[in-house]
Amino acid sequence: MNFNFTNKRPQDADALIFAVEKDGLAHVDFGLEHSDIIRAAAKTARFGGKVGEVFETFTSENGQVLRIVLTGIGKGKGRDLEAAGGLAVAKILSSGAKHAAICPTGLDTEDLARMAFGAKLRSWRIDKYRTTLPEKQKPTLATITVLDQDLETAKDWLDLSAVADGVALTRELVAEPANTIYPESFVARCEELKDMGVEFTILGWDEMEKLGMGALLGVSQGSERPPRLLAMKWDGTDGKQKKPLALVGKGVTFDTGGISLKPGAGMEEMKWDMGGAGAVAGTMKALAGRKAQAHVVGICGLVENMPDGKAQRPGDVVTSMQGQTIEVINTDAEGRLVLCDAMHWTQETFEPEIMIDLATLTGAMIISLGHEYAGVFSNDDDLAADLVDAGKDSGDPVWRLPIGPAYDKLINSPIADMKNVGPRGAGSITAAQFLHRFVKEGVKWAHLDVAGMVWADKASPLWEKGATGYGVRLLNQYVADHFED
Ligand code: BES
Ligand code: MN
Ligand code: ZN
Repeated sequence: MNFNFTNKRPQDADALIFAVEKDGLAHVDFGLEHSDIIRAAAKTARFGGKVGEVFETFTSENGQVLRIVLTGIGKGKGRDLEAAGGLAVAKILSSGAKHAAICPTGLDTEDLARMAFGAKLRSWRIDKYRTTLPEKQKPTLATITVLDQDLETAKDWLDLSAVADGVALTRELVAEPANTIYPESFVARCEELKDMGVEFTILGWDEMEKLGMGALLGVSQGSERPPRLLAMKWDGTDGKQKKPLALVGKGVTFDTGGISLKPGAGMEEMKWDMGGAGAVAGTMKALAGRKAQAHVVGICGLVENMPDGKAQRPGDVVTSMQGQTIEVINTDAEGRLVLCDAMHWTQETFEPEIMIDLATLTGAMIISLGHEYAGVFSNDDDLAADLVDAGKDSGDPVWRLPIGPAYDKLINSPIADMKNVGPRGAGSITAAQFLHRFVKEGVKWAHLDVAGMVWADKASPLWEKGATGYGVRLLNQYVADHFED
């Protein structure tokens, strides 16, 4: 989608979007020949300006048909403006309209930036594999012009636009199938970040073997696709923030379960088992794109979990880089095996003060929280609370769950230092306990289980069904609130 900014309505704009406050219809200045009829029509259709309400009608101006879209903004708060912008775009994306103009209706630049952010998020699609899209589903909208020239250079918009670009990268990585996104190609897709000032470190099999990453490599060994450990570093502080914030993502580019093979039905969903790593990559793009004044490293543990003749077996014991041994009871509990080595390496290499990992770690997370919240587990109450707050403010919601010694002992093993699965109960918590065993003394750590959040079976104001881009807005908000002045 192209975004333009000008104060004058473009000649070729064939759709006009107006934000309307709750019960605010009477005050909207449409500035059109038939303003009164538009207002009366909206009233007749019981359009009240609440968030979620969208009203579409047509008028004529200088003998030409013009599409009019009214979108409710309620009391006009930031997140409501995003939803209003998104819903207006959803309404007309494939409607035949080619060029939409967002009209100010009394909104200031900051509010318009929010609306345009929602519009930009909602206009992302992946159509590249659909060569025979039915005419009515073809996206027609190509340009959105915001009728506020100041927005083009406003920091509000530039920042939000960078965040939307980060979300788009995450969605692309998540939505692409596993025959196009595998560890090497995941890294290749991220390489555009180098041009934005992000520094890359990439480890392959041999380097990881030398470092002793037996847990991560044990998962990878059944796949023809070589693994990668990708680290992306962004320092917008000129070296002032010595200890970085570390973000670590689970990047299982496809999870068959390995020898503990998953059932066939629904297995295709496991192409998005790299959603944690995807969120880390998208966040790095957002931060670099808006030149965030923060020092952040993003680490992606990238492997494919496949069951071939070289694959690890249930009962195998592997040694992690940290030195602790793990009995692999179930090869489908592979995310924690990838993360424990990625997290240990991250702490050794970057000495972060705070480390946050993101992972589509457990199906049990979806059983407990559904698709409404990601679960957060933490050894630090302030960090957990800060993430919950960032979730509320950004629109990527987070709910805290407990960890503790009683759960920890459930993963003790009779033959090794630990096993990779616990009993049936509290599956998401025992997974978190496993990761906790790899957190160094003094490091503040939070684990986000995003299993229910990275993919949506139904559309929302800000995304079409499919990849949501969950995590980018959350982490961007957290960085803005706690690492920037
Ligand atoms: N990637 C899955 C978790 C998952 C499942 C995410 C469904 C989203 C939807 C993870 O690797 C996994 O398979 N976890 C197992 C753990 C079990 C073997 C202890 C699970 O949740 O079943
Ligand atoms: Mn698995
Ligand atoms: Zn998995």
